[in-house]
Amino acid sequence: MTVIRGATTIARDEKREIQEAVEELLLQIETKNNLKREEILSIVFSSTSDIHSYYPAKAAREAGFAGSSLFSAMEPEIDGSLSLCIRVMLFVERNLKAQAVYLRGAKILRKDLSQKINIALDGPSGSGKSTVAKRLAKEYDILYLDTGAMYRACALKVIDADIDVNYEQKICELMKNIDLSIRYEKGSQITLLDGVDVSEKIRQPHVSMAASTVSKWACVRMKMVEKQREIAKKMSCVLDGRDIGTVVLPNADFKFFLTASPEVRAKRRYEELTAKGFSVNYDEIKTEIIQRDVQDSTRKNSPLKQADDAVLVDSSDLTIEEVIAVIKRKMQEKI
Ligand code: DC
Repeated sequence: MTVIRGATTIARDEKREIQEAVEELLLQIETKNNLKREEILSIVFSSTSDIHSYYPAKAAREAGFAGSSLFSAMEPEIDGSLSLCIRVMLFVERNLKAQAVYLRGAKILRKDLSQKINIALDGPSGSGKSTVAKRLAKEYDILYLDTGAMYRACALKVIDADIDVNYEQKICELMKNIDLSIRYEKGSQITLLDGVDVSEKIRQPHVSMAASTVSKWACVRMKMVEKQREIAKKMSCVLDGRDIGTVVLPNADFKFFLTASPEVRAKRRYEELTAKGFSVNYDEIKTEIIQRDVQDSTRKNSPLKQADDAVLVDSSDLTIEEVIAVIKRKMQEKI
């Protein structure tokens, strides 16, 4: 079964207005979701307490929805709620990806059910961002954009071109023609550089450090931020990085800043890299993590920084399940 939401508003509390608004809302929900009328089991309306002149359920019956079970209720008066607003839930037999419909200035109240949400997840390397982001993407059925992978691909391009990561001018020239694209296969991000899948190659430790340096240059950031915004504008996604909440999407619906002690982060990175078959040393990883922290947070352009309105989550003593639970609770509180 699927539940489809929608809402609309009326200009005046008049029968005719209610009839027109209800009919328009139901027809649009039907069209947008490709529904056959007979598969709509039930339609439940709730209207704000300033609507008295007609039942939305009656208007639905008159509009030709008499075959479904219809119900109207009145909402209590709550400070800040919209006025003259009619909300609806349609219960449909079939399983489908519900497309909510909000008309005439009606606003979606539950942002997690809205057509598009963006979650910004920032923090230093090894703070667990990517694991958390992947899980959130799965749970909310949205895209995961690993922005670090993009900077890593830029670094790989610089390394392959044999350019010093500190040579800004040459790097900016190289960036003019960089062919970097992101694709998704079975929900996993594939990073393509000049048409070649570099998703594994960019995980090498020397690329991490180079990415941290290369990403300080404004020309690199501008190019990547533009790509990230383009993706986030089109669809719901969770983006992880260093500057998502501060620069890339300052108006993201939800913002989190994930952190953990350098020791915990180094241990996680060590385990992750060893599992992938890289031969690495814990102390070296810890030193590199601390160096990257300093470099990422002290650079002039978009440094690693917690946005003022981001929720701080220290995962040093938390399991991944606990981190997810905290984040989901905070999201619910904001909705
Ligand atoms: O998250 P990561 O370790 O894959 O990122 C690699 C480097 O890229 C990191 O040290 C800093 C840079 N980066 C950035 O500057 N801004 C982002 N949004 C993401 C990563």
